[in-house]
Amino acid sequence: MKQSITINSAEDATHKAVTDKIFLPRFYTTDFDAMNKISVEPVRAEWDAMIAEYEADNNRDYFQRDASFATEVHELDMKMSPELKQEFLDFLFTTLTSELSGCILYNGIKRNVSNPDIKRLMRYMARDETRHASFINSSLKDYGLGINTSDFKQNKKFTFFKPRYIFYAIYLSETIGYARYIKMFRQLEAYPERRFHTIFRWFQRWCNDEFWHGESMALIMRANPELLKGPNLLLIRFFLLAVYAIMYVRDHMRPALKQAIILKPTEYDFEVFSITNEIIK
Ligand SMILES: [Fe+2]
Ligand SMILES: [Fe+2]
Repeated sequence: MKQSITINSAEDATHKAVTDKIFLPRFYTTDFDAMNKISVEPVRAEWDAMIAEYEADNNRDYFQRDASFATEVHELDMKMSPELKQEFLDFLFTTLTSELSGCILYNGIKRNVSNPDIKRLMRYMARDETRHASFINSSLKDYGLGINTSDFKQNKKFTFFKPRYIFYAIYLSETIGYARYIKMFRQLEAYPERRFHTIFRWFQRWCNDEFWHGESMALIMRANPELLKGPNLLLIRFFLLAVYAIMYVRDHMRPALKQAIILKPTEYDFEVFSITNEIIK
């Protein structure tokens, strides 16, 4: 399967960001009054401990380039085939879009809710996604392909989702995001000679942020068990299937990237599936 859009310039990247409606994440808005009524009292002790972890902010200084970053990028870039480079740029680009999509959603909820618990959580989650997005954008800028995030925010259309759909979607996409990052990190830890870009060195602590974002949603659902009953379970399965389907198509569009890290796309997807299922049991 081949991609129809080649990214050769910052304009190509921004054009893809605002026009690609099939594979890129959509932007969501929700019923903020309903979100104000969400209570986390049944899990208050765990909730406060989780918020304290966010406040401690262990990754505060983590998303900075170290002294060898630029040299390593340059050396590895000279060995990259044009096909791999194009797939890698597309990977960076779609990952950036996912991070920005989370950032915009969490900031939007933070701005519009009065529920202090949800507001505080969204502030921390938006903080993390902003760091992730800007770290990826720096790598795109190395190739002169950084996107203008304010254009991106202005041009996207928003889709309305009820709060419970938002919780399911965030939970599943964050948990799958964690599984994807950690699988790539472990693979390149096992085959360090296959690491064709420096950014993969950051994936371990990066994916911890995604894991906790997912677990924060799990806590909200545990505090509100009606979200996990009856027809809602069918909805969750639907979301899971939709996210997997998009992931499967995207990964099979990048055979050179998976080949570079000695991982077949199907094998990678099943591994992500298995890590995710273990977490969401
Ligand atoms: Fe993220
Ligand atoms: Fe996240």
